[in-house]
Amino acid sequence: SECPPQMERQVLYDVEGVPMISVFFEYNERIRNFKAKPDDVLIATYPKAGTTWMIEIVDCIRKEGVTAEIKNQLSMTRSPFIEMGAANMMPSGVDLLENMPSPRLVKTHLPVNLVPKSFWDNDCKIIYVARNAKDVLVSYYFFHKMNLGMPDPGSWEEYFESYLSGNVAWGSWFDHVIGWWDIRERHQILYVFFEDIVQDPVREVERVARFLGKTLEGTTINEILDHIAFSNMKDNPMTNYSIVPSHLMNQEISPFMRKGKVGDWKNHFTVAQNERFEEEYRRRMAKTSLRLTDEL
Ligand code: A3P
Repeated sequence: SECPPQMERQVLYDVEGVPMISVFFEYNERIRNFKAKPDDVLIATYPKAGTTWMIEIVDCIRKEGVTAEIKNQLSMTRSPFIEMGAANMMPSGVDLLENMPSPRLVKTHLPVNLVPKSFWDNDCKIIYVARNAKDVLVSYYFFHKMNLGMPDPGSWEEYFESYLSGNVAWGSWFDHVIGWWDIRERHQILYVFFEDIVQDPVREVERVARFLGKTLEGTTINEILDHIAFSNMKDNPMTNYSIVPSHLMNQEISPFMRKGKVGDWKNHFTVAQNERFEEEYRRRMAKTSLRLTDEL
């Protein structure tokens, strides 16, 4: 039996107070100086909040249905990840974007303060997806385990503490969701909740369509809903990351399309962990009007 090449686990480095990782996700001058165009749409999320899901929703809406391009091109080239460095034959996110015809769709996990300035200067439409902190913790933990380009998460107990203290890639969940919440009314930002899409996908797809200035026919909406259903995205090689070699993302450890549920945290948190989490959560969320739900 052969040993696959082993990836060395990454360590975090500091970008203006935000912990980042460098091997795939490289924050640098090219990102900071990226030239956005007015018809770029930015999808911004904290990792594991439903980025891949929103990319399909927005791409289908903008192209007014599930086009051949959507069916045949990888999510990661239809919506390049702006802070992704060149790696493993894949050009960097900025290179992909500079070679992409408009209108472009851009993916980012950056917190508000690190978003390239030209997105604000060009008044680009931005869709932010937020997901409850507990389900993100669980999803991110399994993602760290399967994605060998992420830092070693340590044990579940260790990871739990790293996450609560914000010592994880892209920083604190609290800072991220609150930072984006606070500026939503000052820019063209649609703030969407993962749990709302699970609960009422028709309403949320229509809401995104309205924000993008599109009116869709009923048949088109149904076609989109079918395309974005969890089971279909899990089976779809354009969206399920099966293209990524297993020595980079080992989907036998945990699939990229893992569960897609609200409330999976209940299968992982102990009672004591939940109390500890709730206490920190109350403290960190005391001054914001942002409210998320962790069960339906
Ligand atoms: P789980 O690990 O809880 O299953 P991101 O794209 O931001 O990395 O987020 C990934 C999370 O979104 C995973 O959560 C994944 O299963 C979930 N997801 C992706 N597509 C989905 C869909 N169509 N329906 C529901 N959840 C989806």
